[in-house]
Amino acid sequence: MIERIGNTVCLTGRDISYIMFTNENGDLLHFHFGKKIKSMDYSRMTDEWHEEWGYATNQFPLDVYPQEYPSYGLTDLRNPAYSVLNSDNNNLSMLCVKDFIIHKGQAYQINGLPCLFSAKSPCDTLEVILYDEVTCLEVRLFYTVFDEYNVIARSAAIVNRSEHNIKLLSAYSASLDLPVGEYDMIHFAGSWGRERELARTPIKIGMKAEIENARGGSGHQLNPFVMISSVDADEEKGEVYGFSLIYSGNHSSVAKSDQFRGLRVQQGINPNGFECVLGKDEEFYTPQCVICYSSSGFGAISREYHDLFRNNLMRSKWTHMNRPLLLNNWEGTYFNFTEEKLLDMAARAKELGLDLFVLDDGWFGKRNDDKSSLGDWTVNKDKLPSGLSGLADKINKLGLKFGIWIEPEMISPDSELYRAHPDWAVHVRGREPVEIRNQLILDLSRDDVCEYVINAVKNILSNANIEYVKWDMNRQMTDIPCAGYNHRYTLGVYRVMSEITSMFPDVLFEGCSAGGGRFDAGILAYMPQIWASDNSDAVSRLKIQYSTSIPYPVYSISSHVTASPNHQCGRITSLKTRAASAYMGTFGYELDVTKLTDDEITQIKEQISFDRRIQTLVREGDLYRILSPYDTNFSVSEIVSKDRRKALLTACKVLTAGQEKNARIKLRNLNTDKQYKDVVSGKIYRGDLLMYRGIMLNYDACDFASVVMLLEQTD
Ligand code: DGJ
Repeated sequence: MIERIGNTVCLTGRDISYIMFTNENGDLLHFHFGKKIKSMDYSRMTDEWHEEWGYATNQFPLDVYPQEYPSYGLTDLRNPAYSVLNSDNNNLSMLCVKDFIIHKGQAYQINGLPCLFSAKSPCDTLEVILYDEVTCLEVRLFYTVFDEYNVIARSAAIVNRSEHNIKLLSAYSASLDLPVGEYDMIHFAGSWGRERELARTPIKIGMKAEIENARGGSGHQLNPFVMISSVDADEEKGEVYGFSLIYSGNHSSVAKSDQFRGLRVQQGINPNGFECVLGKDEEFYTPQCVICYSSSGFGAISREYHDLFRNNLMRSKWTHMNRPLLLNNWEGTYFNFTEEKLLDMAARAKELGLDLFVLDDGWFGKRNDDKSSLGDWTVNKDKLPSGLSGLADKINKLGLKFGIWIEPEMISPDSELYRAHPDWAVHVRGREPVEIRNQLILDLSRDDVCEYVINAVKNILSNANIEYVKWDMNRQMTDIPCAGYNHRYTLGVYRVMSEITSMFPDVLFEGCSAGGGRFDAGILAYMPQIWASDNSDAVSRLKIQYSTSIPYPVYSISSHVTASPNHQCGRITSLKTRAASAYMGTFGYELDVTKLTDDEITQIKEQISFDRRIQTLVREGDLYRILSPYDTNFSVSEIVSKDRRKALLTACKVLTAGQEKNARIKLRNLNTDKQYKDVVSGKIYRGDLLMYRGIMLNYDACDFASVVMLLEQTD
């Protein structure tokens, strides 16, 4: 709900208020974002900030006031939300409120960029129009608030109303001034095979913390999601503000503590390498940033984002459907396969009880390794004599769906496509472009290149019965032709993804980027699941999946059981633990199933029927992280159905120790007066015992042991 009361505007969500007002000079000041308070006119309540500040009496000292979209260089000298180089070569502007417009019942949509949509959730959008009289700069701020969530979705449009060109040097999607206090920043760093490693840093007075990525996609190294919390915050207590950018290009999240320990937090496109020239009446739209507030720790932030993303971001019809349980051939064969081998694997997958066979990299052009053929999306008949459609038919006859891998944004220098269109690769004239994994990036800022890609994928998907697509992207962006290019490329990616996913609404798309290098809310808008990491080791995955689950829904995390010793880190783990780790996501297998022992076949059959029992719970339930693999020797999580009748507990012990007493695990959010049966052990427990006394988990006496419980209410 949005109310304008005098000079104040109050946005009210489920338990939150977001309040701003205009002062006597027309400045847009921030008043409150946090627990719900009464909606009323707060515009006179500025006394707490009044200071002797040395400015002339007719100049308002913005430097000590919380603001909504601050500029730099007049009476505020802190980090600006945007920066414009004016035609007379300075960066100054002073934005004043021109109007507040309330768009009732609407979630704000930005042309060409993924955004939250309203679906069945009541929501309203506030548009604030700001204007600088001297430079004729207009800024429009958008705030969407949902009645049933504790989030505000923010974005900005920068419009040049002057007669001259201006250069936009930065434009954050949101800027939030938090009150004086002690804060921590939690961010998600990493690399290939070690994505989204959770890191927590106190932001001391005067300190600036910036999480930024300038590598092309959202990146393995730093995720476009951060949290700012009170220093006492943990999974269940403390104030937490989440910032999730719905964007897959270069991004930046900045938190800067000011001289009084107030904290200015900003999130948006990375200013590093960004610029956009705006002619008269031209406008630039930032991506959307979703800010979330919790007064009860990180767990509540997760549950909020999970519901919001599932219901109001992810467009695929598969979002609310159980996914086919799959076998992917990648770790089973890599590039070395024949049609016969694939059919053997598929036949075995069917016997095991799986639903879908996915053919990964290496089926097209003359691709027998990663050195060639990206862009030549025609089947390699030497490997697959019956073509994709013939193979799909044979696999369908076995009773399985068929899916494929593609990497449509890329071009190999050794490809027919490159020989025909060398200028289609991202490059700078006169310079040999840098190859990474022997490949270059197609210039998706060009309409003709986007059209080629759309048609190429359309062609593949129209000519064979392909029901699943793994959409990979395996390199970082170099040779950037001009400032601001990465954003234009990202818009091209979204255009291509949007057109293809709308053309094939029944196909299940999975995002991927050399593992989890592009796991962000932008991709989730088009693809309901994303491969979380090329590191498929069950123990490494505990950390990767734990931290990925903080902003992103558990069922969007693709996780497969692979061979032991693990191919990426050599660790030996039991099949039981590999499955226990993979249950916390969309489940599947990725190994040569023709080489399984009888015992493994029996176990896998049981795992598959167990996963069918938990899929809906994992897909729609509420996540409670109980023990963190970052802080303890364990990773324990629980997913509870909305009606509390079912709960899945997955628990892994990392290293074993002689006579170590495990902590009792207390489950969360069950019906205290009801009985639950653990379908794994057959034991019966009361909800109150599980929650308030807790239970000891009976781990095997070995490293990497696991316990899984599926609790179902008996009455
Ligand atoms: C990187 C992906 O993350 C892998 O799963 C696999 O698809 C390879 N690319 C194929 O080249």
